[in-house]
Amino acid sequence: MTKKYIIAFDQGTTSTRAIIFNSLGDICGISQKELTQHYPKSGWVEHDPNEIFAHQQEVFDEVIKKSGVAIEEIASIGITNQRETTVVWDKNTGEPIYNAIVWLDKRTTKICENLKAMGLSEYISKNTGLVIDSYFSGTKLKWILDHVEGAREKAKKGNLLFGTIDTWLIWKFTNGAKHITDHSNASRTMLYNIIDLDWDDKLLNAMNIPNSVLPEVQYSSSDFGHVNYRGTHIPIYGVAGDQQASLFGQGGYKSGIAKNTYGTGCFMLLNTGKKPYTSKNGLLTTLCCSLPEDTIKYALEGSIFVGGASIQWLRDKLQIIQDATETEAICKSTKSLDDLYVVPAFAGLGAPHWDMEAKGAIYGLTLDSGKNEVIKATVEALAYQTRDVLEAMIEDSGKQMKELKVDGGASANDYLMQFQSDILNVAVDRPKMLEVTALGAAFLAGIKSGIWTKKDISKIRAIDTVFTPAITEHERSRKYLGWKQAVERTKTVNK
Ligand code: G3P
Repeated sequence: MTKKYIIAFDQGTTSTRAIIFNSLGDICGISQKELTQHYPKSGWVEHDPNEIFAHQQEVFDEVIKKSGVAIEEIASIGITNQRETTVVWDKNTGEPIYNAIVWLDKRTTKICENLKAMGLSEYISKNTGLVIDSYFSGTKLKWILDHVEGAREKAKKGNLLFGTIDTWLIWKFTNGAKHITDHSNASRTMLYNIIDLDWDDKLLNAMNIPNSVLPEVQYSSSDFGHVNYRGTHIPIYGVAGDQQASLFGQGGYKSGIAKNTYGTGCFMLLNTGKKPYTSKNGLLTTLCCSLPEDTIKYALEGSIFVGGASIQWLRDKLQIIQDATETEAICKSTKSLDDLYVVPAFAGLGAPHWDMEAKGAIYGLTLDSGKNEVIKATVEALAYQTRDVLEAMIEDSGKQMKELKVDGGASANDYLMQFQSDILNVAVDRPKMLEVTALGAAFLAGIKSGIWTKKDISKIRAIDTVFTPAITEHERSRKYLGWKQAVERTKTVNK
């Protein structure tokens, strides 16, 4: 049988999916399961690593069965994952010693303050491309080693392993044969030197992390071992953090291409080519998906912690919508209240503000502000936050941006996409197929399998709609100024 399909495992913050793609990049099957979110204390967010693995196996099994694709026709697997989320497990039992600490978790704020007090800010920025923040894996790993009874002892004896979710899944799927990650995920740990392409001894020392817990790092499109599916061996040929995977899937292996993904958060990445830019405006420098035949490429990233998660908040906590898709019609039929702004700093503020202590706020409520007005202002906050990041990107790169490629769940919302274009004064290009993160991981695997070359990516991408700015500069500036004032009032630092 010809091996003509690729399967992507997309393990995100709120769901776990398996998607089968054919060689035209069309979806031939998709299965999905929601992931349980644990909030043990205010500001803490955890996942159960065993649930993640079990769900990934279930959706894998389900998609094979319902697609009708024979397992022998699958050439390879690509894995893409929520980044930074940290798992530590016992290599002898295969059991996690603590729940996964999710990227949104704020418990390591104090450890971060200590690292700043040690004078490490500049070193971390130059060598890892990151800012010191509880977002990244390093301080989460340190927290687990410091707080789980007996963990340090076990780690010293070489019995513990650390991984981001890709590493955990690969280790489980290969029955412990591979303890491995790729460049894009390693670059989110705050322990990996993105210039030397190696784990950074100075930072490992500063956080008291033994080398023995760390995975090997390799190219995103390479051999990560194989999955044994009922006796058939399927190689894992692609691995990447979800945001770098979607940049790749949007054709962003070329420099100058920018994308924004509207997922749990919003993540804008601009491929800046072979030279790492150190941001002066609160952005991160991160490694793009890597291929053995290519030079290493860097991206500037603006990470917004709460994007689609604020729509979930409307649904689950405020309970003023039943489904995220309702928001489009509500936004279209609700008159904008000019001074109403929702600043969704539910997990602090990420790029470009970096304020770990900030909390969400609503400004400008009056007696005519009803639930629909709050819903509309929450949706619009995704676009305003994206403008904050875009401004920083233009400053850093010195380049005006003419177009932004978009993907992810909320990019299906026409109101939001038009508003995004209006607020940015940039064309917003939405592809027909919005599962770009999974497709990016599939491309990485498919390139190694010989199904595609990099050039095929742009050929496969079909445009659905290009939204172009439709408001005056005066209107745009007035709205954005109101947003900036709201953010300033929300911040706890640099006021
Ligand atoms: O850095 C966090 C990011 O990888 C999470 O992505 O798609 O789960 O919102 P997502």
